Amino acid sequence: MALRIIRKERDPALRKRAVEVNNFSPRLLQLLDDMVDTMLQADGVGLAAPQVGISKRIIVYRDGDVVREIINPVIIKKQGEAVEVEGCLSLPGVLGEVPRCEYVEVKGVDRRQEPLYIKAEDMLARILQHELDHLDGVLFTEKAIKVFSYQEIEKLGEEC
Ligand code: CO
Repeated sequence: MALRIIRKERDPALRKRAVEVNNFSPRLLQLLDDMVDTMLQADGVGLAAPQVGISKRIIVYRDGDVVREIINPVIIKKQGEAVEVEGCLSLPGVLGEVPRCEYVEVKGVDRRQEPLYIKAEDMLARILQHELDHLDGVLFTEKAIKVFSYQEIEKLGEEC
């Protein structure tokens, strides 16, 4: 198992537009495995390559108990809107209410360059949109209609 360092907050790696993958080398396979290990170790539900300092269009995420990966993901259909609370491994201690599409269809390829076509709704659709934003250097706090710190949430809990 090889863990990578998760880039945080103002790291410039989080702000760049990532480039498409066109070299499916053994290094890419290693990166994918490391991203999965890093996401699971951090107890995250998704991770994009820029979050480990690699400016490539790659995401990994959890679909229930299954870990999935998409290389060169593109959203090709979106529908509906929902506002839910989300966080990010790169922004510890912060949560936000973020409007996202309720349903998305995403295409891309897997590590064997086999085409992938994913239909996702609700939480899974949210994860995919959040991770795809990372590939364009966008963090959830930019789209949030409300941002809170964990301390504020704890305080609210005490007041209720
Ligand atoms: Co994130």
